[in-house]
Amino acid sequence: DTSKLWGGRFSEATDSFVQRFTASVNFDQRMAAEDIAGSLAHAEMLCKVGVLSAEELREIQDGLARVSQEIEDGSFQWSIELEDVHMNIEARLTELIGITGKKLHTGRSRNDQVATDIRLYLRRAIDLIGAELTRLQAGTIELAAANTDTIMPGFTHLQTAQPVTFGHHLLAWNEMLQRDYGRLMDCRARMNQSPLGAAALAGTTYPIDRAQTARALAFDKPTENSLDSVSDRDFAIEFCAFASLLMTHLSRMSEELVIWTSAQFNFIELPDRFCTGSSIMPQKKNPDVPELVRGKVGRVNGHLVSLLTLMKSQPLAYNKDNQEDKEPLFDTIDTVLDSLRAFADMVPAIRPRKEQMREAARSGFSTATDLADYLVGLGLPFRDAHEVVGKAVAHGVEHDLDLAEMSLDTLQGFCTDIGEDVFEVLTLEGSVSARDHLGGTAPAQVAAAAKRATALLAER
Ligand code: ARG
Repeated sequence: DTSKLWGGRFSEATDSFVQRFTASVNFDQRMAAEDIAGSLAHAEMLCKVGVLSAEELREIQDGLARVSQEIEDGSFQWSIELEDVHMNIEARLTELIGITGKKLHTGRSRNDQVATDIRLYLRRAIDLIGAELTRLQAGTIELAAANTDTIMPGFTHLQTAQPVTFGHHLLAWNEMLQRDYGRLMDCRARMNQSPLGAAALAGTTYPIDRAQTARALAFDKPTENSLDSVSDRDFAIEFCAFASLLMTHLSRMSEELVIWTSAQFNFIELPDRFCTGSSIMPQKKNPDVPELVRGKVGRVNGHLVSLLTLMKSQPLAYNKDNQEDKEPLFDTIDTVLDSLRAFADMVPAIRPRKEQMREAARSGFSTATDLADYLVGLGLPFRDAHEVVGKAVAHGVEHDLDLAEMSLDTLQGFCTDIGEDVFEVLTLEGSVSARDHLGGTAPAQVAAAAKRATALLAER
């Protein structure tokens, strides 16, 4: 049959495979609420400028309310023949209210309609994601504030480097997340413009009021250029770039959680509810949640590349290619929301094993730099001090002794000027509290940093 919403110029029906191939309703129906909101704003504007009568507007409003109700209660019949969410809703509206339903599309095209719907949908998703990100940051900062003087080894190359505090490490996570939040808000600010009124590509001959529809839909303003309005998807790419970076950060946190829960490290305990067992090995408690989040970075990075590739070389203005923007975007949103939710629930439940952390810092020569700095204080050039300490560490490795466990005699064998006061700098507490400047790991600095981080969250 040729009784499509665009059937006028067609003389044969769409091939049934082509119909299925070109339809998007199976995945774009999740924008139904946004589609209806956009239609209401458009209809109200058409009435105000005199294109629709007040009576017609009322019919459309009532009809769309019924459609919305049907979608909510699950009785709405979605149809592949009607291609996408936009035409499904319009066709049902027309079924319900008759000829007035057909007037809704005056001065509008699916091209500006879909561009509006995606922006509205993504904006809502951004707000949900922002809230979950904030919840995760709050939990991270709170755990940090409770561990400003919990000593653990800091690593470079995953080799013990210098002692740090667990709170300091957690606040490093928070810095990554803080930048992610900034990127998310930048993306929101840039995308929050209304493409409605661009129509198919060139604008419309009706006396539309784009500022009114923009206001009604809580956009900051209408977009500038009609061609760009219907073809731009860089807001979606920008969001996916944010998502890739966020997921990359979550994967780094995940990796550390996986390492820390291993028997070999044993730095933290993850509550059972975030772990699963093995069907064969009774002793196992696997950190599934962080592992899965680490794994989900793959699909999110893939979606970013999908969208970049989708957009590459597309001529202006709208092309059907853009229908392919939705599944990657939606899956990115779902994945980010789920991952953030898992992390926001899990991080505050992390229990540090303080003794194990401390022991790992103690046994790994983590205060070797402090000894070198001490020797510099005695007048040695740093490079010579480095050499002296290197020899002391080699001695420790050979005799299974930490620097703090060596006798003064032994230490003086490497440098005669070393005095009894050396043991103050060789202690873990001495080492961390000596790094007492902005951004350093001294407990007082970490406590102050946690306060500042909390204050930043309160500004949101
Ligand atoms: N389903 C389409 C999409 O997602 C809606 C816009 C279609 N416009 C068109 N002229 N075919 O992009």
